[in-house]
Amino acid sequence: MATPKRSSWERACEELEARLSREDPAQAADLAALDRVRVGLLGRKGALTELLKALKDLSLEDRRALGPRAQGLKTLLEGKIAERQNALERTADERKLSAELDLTLPGLPQPRGRRHPLTQILDEMTRILSLMGFSWAEGPHVEDDRHNFSALNIPEHHPARDLHDTLYLADAPLLLRTHTSPVQIRSMEARRPPLRIMCPGRVFRHEAVDATHSAVFHQLEGLYVERGVTFADLKATLAAFMEQLLGSSEIRLRPSFFPFTEPSAEVDVRCLFCSGRGCPVCKQSGWLELLGAGLVHPNVLKAVDIDPERWSGFAFGIGVERLAMLKLGVKDIRQFYENDVRFLRQFDENIA
Ligand code: PHE
Repeated sequence: MATPKRSSWERACEELEARLSREDPAQAADLAALDRVRVGLLGRKGALTELLKALKDLSLEDRRALGPRAQGLKTLLEGKIAERQNALERTADERKLSAELDLTLPGLPQPRGRRHPLTQILDEMTRILSLMGFSWAEGPHVEDDRHNFSALNIPEHHPARDLHDTLYLADAPLLLRTHTSPVQIRSMEARRPPLRIMCPGRVFRHEAVDATHSAVFHQLEGLYVERGVTFADLKATLAAFMEQLLGSSEIRLRPSFFPFTEPSAEVDVRCLFCSGRGCPVCKQSGWLELLGAGLVHPNVLKAVDIDPERWSGFAFGIGVERLAMLKLGVKDIRQFYENDVRFLRQFDENIA
């Protein structure tokens, strides 16, 4: 038999259920309306809260029978309110975002970097030489006397040392390499011939800086040691290299002197600017002086225990800045080191 308390509780519960099916809280138009619904039902004086409180006036048996019904109603309601709240918050965020940002605008362009013009030229030179079978070699910037001078057939007190304005380290018998030729010695110490190496790198000289001189600059060294290498191999290799690099294979070898090559030559290429007719860049000579080269001196081979009777070789050394200035039409070497982006920006990636 239902007690009067129980039947009035059940009536109140039915009324509430009916009300909830009439006005689904999940239909609340905005967050404020949803909050009113929540307070009205689940707040301290909310209808459902009151109903749950009223359970305590019922008998234990009635509470067991009806409690789950009221709890189920509460769980259902809380779930619906949370879901609606999420949805309303999401639309509010979206509306706010689209009021502040135009999501259809294109993105900000990322400025694209480019390699330094010297790096571009160096990369191009080593690319070509590697196709010709030269492999990459490196050596330290801080060198000792043997590698920079004596093993290269430049003995102490020899006047050839005066050609290099050497920077010596204060407290050690060490120096900053004045050319990349010490890498010839290091390569031959590390490997037996036949060998064919290229070494791009930084070199240092105690030099007054002006439009054509820098105390720090770059060279690219080449060395080929094999049986029966001749001057003809040197000339053909350099002509093929220049053809690839500059589009001109007409080269000229002039007798010269380097202690570590014999015979030695200065290598000129047909002037890129006037095709040899004569212009201010080539000083009306029709030729541009590009590099030093020669056949490896027997004393150099002996210094690294290679028998000059069995092996011979050629070597060359190119000033990278000078070549870059000619190729790019740069008038002042200092511009390469100032990192002025207005200068650097001119050399787009397709120049080299
Ligand atoms: N090392 C020489 C220089 O710095 C260039 C060179 C290299 C010449 C190899 C001949 C052979 O001037």
